[in-house]
Amino acid sequence: MKMKLKLRHKNSTMKQDEVKSDKIFQKTTEKIDPDLVIDVINVTKKYNLGDYTVAALDNVNLQIKKGELVAVVGPSGSGKTTLINCLGALDFPNSGKIIYNIDGKGFGSDITKMKDKEHKEMRLHRIGLIFQFYNLFPILTAYENVELPMLLGGKSREESKERVELLLNMVGLGERMHHRPTQLSGGEQQRVTVARSLANEPLILLADEPTGELDTETSSQIIEIFLELKEAGQSILFVSHNRRIVETADRVITITDGKIVGDHEGKKSLSEIWDD
Ligand SMILES: Nc1ncnc2c1ncn2[C@@H]1O[C@H](COP(=O)(O)OP(=O)(O)OP(=O)(O)O)[C@@H](O)[C@H]1O
Ligand SMILES: [Mg+2]
Repeated sequence: MKMKLKLRHKNSTMKQDEVKSDKIFQKTTEKIDPDLVIDVINVTKKYNLGDYTVAALDNVNLQIKKGELVAVVGPSGSGKTTLINCLGALDFPNSGKIIYNIDGKGFGSDITKMKDKEHKEMRLHRIGLIFQFYNLFPILTAYENVELPMLLGGKSREESKERVELLLNMVGLGERMHHRPTQLSGGEQQRVTVARSLANEPLILLADEPTGELDTETSSQIIEIFLELKEAGQSILFVSHNRRIVETADRVITITDGKIVGDHEGKKSLSEIWDD
């Protein structure tokens, strides 16, 4: 599955759109180290269950560097999905800051201060989301699923074509572009969602248990794609229950009871994790 991926291509009309829409983040400007993609500062997220309050995230501090592949591991209920949801503007913390490096040069913006319009822009253009259960549109083909975010982002079908094909070839589905999700295996469907998440050239991919439903071999294919994307400069944060798989990441964050309790280097190859 060799990939020639230009994450930002020369003829992209997106550049212009980005410059235009970067302006909408001006009201929420925050400083950020230009080498980071996200700076999470003192984030707490509580859920009220009647008289009882759960701190799903408890004063979390986390810095993700540009181009870094970060894995998050931890027991069930430790706050991993809550972290992904807060970073992905799907849920919002009670306190703290989540600053994104919007232009990649240190023009930061705090997602917790943004309004609907900015959140929409973040979800459409700046963040790529991948879930455990694929979430593809069943009536659309693989091609159309990947194309959709580009059309929503304002590109024409013609303008989108080259990138849709590039992304589907990159995930090894060049031959199956016109299949619907029900005509694809679980691993193939997940590869479509990876291609879809990259449609609008996001700052980061956020993946919640992307290999949760997959066997060892199919999981390895997803991780292999993540490693290739990382080589191409893509920042990625993924959650996994699999203690071996997480070791392929540059860094492994361990979370327990909503707190980061560990942060160590991974960088193992796929053959190393399956051979021992
Ligand atoms: N919408 C909600 N309302 C109330 N409590 C919630 C809600 N979402 C999550 N929680 C609670 O917050 C805590 C963290 O949940 P979260 O889903 O982030 O865990 P997780 O690490 O992703 O677990 P798993 O590995 O099982 O997916 C849990 O105690 C959970 O019950
Ligand atoms: Mg979860």
